[in-house]
Amino acid sequence: MSLPTPTAPEDRRRPNEDPLEVLADAQARAGETLELAARYLDPSLVEVLRIIGFDGDYRTAVGSHLYDDAGRAYLDLHTGEGFASLGHAHPDVKATLAAVLHADLQDGVQIHYSVLAGMLAEALCARLPAALDATFFSSGGAEAVDTAIKFARAATGRPRLVSCDSSYHGVSLGPLSLVGDDFFKEGFGPLLPGCARVPYGDIDRLEAELRSRDVAAFFVEPIQGRLVTLPPPGYLEAAQALCRRYGTLLVIDEIQTGLGRTGRWFAFEQFGSDRLEPDIVTVGKALSGGYMPVAATVTRREIFQRAVGTLERSYVHQSTYGRNRLSMAAGLASIRVIERDGLVERSARMGERLMDGLRELQRRHELIKEVRGAGMMIGIELQAPRSRTGQLGVRLMRLASEGLFPQLIVIPLLRDHGIITMAAGKNDVIKLLPPLTLSESEAERFLTALDLVLTDCESGAGKNWSVVRDIAVSTLRRRG
Ligand SMILES: Cc1ncc(COP(=O)(O)O)c(C=O)c1O
Repeated sequence: MSLPTPTAPEDRRRPNEDPLEVLADAQARAGETLELAARYLDPSLVEVLRIIGFDGDYRTAVGSHLYDDAGRAYLDLHTGEGFASLGHAHPDVKATLAAVLHADLQDGVQIHYSVLAGMLAEALCARLPAALDATFFSSGGAEAVDTAIKFARAATGRPRLVSCDSSYHGVSLGPLSLVGDDFFKEGFGPLLPGCARVPYGDIDRLEAELRSRDVAAFFVEPIQGRLVTLPPPGYLEAAQALCRRYGTLLVIDEIQTGLGRTGRWFAFEQFGSDRLEPDIVTVGKALSGGYMPVAATVTRREIFQRAVGTLERSYVHQSTYGRNRLSMAAGLASIRVIERDGLVERSARMGERLMDGLRELQRRHELIKEVRGAGMMIGIELQAPRSRTGQLGVRLMRLASEGLFPQLIVIPLLRDHGIITMAAGKNDVIKLLPPLTLSESEAERFLTALDLVLTDCESGAGKNWSVVRDIAVSTLRRRG
């Protein structure tokens, strides 16, 4: 019996038609964005945005800029914590997604495969050490880390996990158990048992944990994203040697640092050259092309097989949308743009340009304590000025909220210069994750603006100080 061959209904609509008027409604209601978010999503986050003046009416985002309702351009040096690594709405990623969407390719999510999934896995493996040749796709970074946790436990038969102080690996329960700052965890316990933390860079403490030979994996970021902390020389190689000695798997989390961000395809390449061969690497953010949720856990075939590699276990670890065709196409497009446009080298070059400029500012401005980073992942650590009023001002800010002090710079950069940067968290660091496509003139624009803001702050002219002092005072009042 032959199966009937129904013809697919022909889709004659133009790609930009809006049959259900979703786009039309979104455009008509754009002014309600934050009101809707406060009512149905997260009112406290909306309040934070309002307090620090990040509650602009942004409508579109293209290249290095966001645009508001009045058409004003904002230079984005945050890129959604690095996910829009190619800049916003990259035309070739957009065209690839449109082409794949309109080809109606079979997807195979769950019951089969899209060829795009194999192609993307192949492209990732080709850029990692040869031993890493097996990939699992998921919908986000935390899920990729969760996958690494499960694979490591199943492959080694060991229960424990070790990570670093100040680390960040995502906030679903598995990764949260590894995260290095306790304020992320408060109220969410109990977390995974058997997790220990060691100071980043401390080989002796790591060895003390691994010696018991019950640790499945050591999770480490090649550059810590929270404060942009670089590893001490030789640290990752020494950690790898310890892992090998005690039978622990080395998991390098490249979710933030991967795909050109630090001036290499993967950040670990610059620390230990060809001697580093992690057992598992996690990738995310930039893989999205700025569009699609996607992350990957890449490991050795042997580990993959030991974890889930039998017919009976081939379904026990799954992710419904993990390898959907649009995410896979976004990943492939992203890698091809990075390759074609030399964005890895560009990231190294522009990163150096930015860091040179920032170090020159550091020589002239006492508020900058340190500039550090690699490629287009840069941390600017601040320090209190020497003046008595400055010292008091910073003390008040810290009392109100750790992490408020950098807003002294972040707020006027946006308000007066239309430049989006971010405070890295509960610390004194401003973090930059600019698009890898950043132009020379955009870098100059940022450096000039930062110079002006620092000069303003140091001249004692009170505006920037008083804005943040008011936030500190009202925060303290609210706290009672
Ligand atoms: C190093 C690292 N790992 C994991 C994650 C979690 O990724 P996601 O937010 O996609 O879950 C992040 C996110 O910032 C990250 O920087």
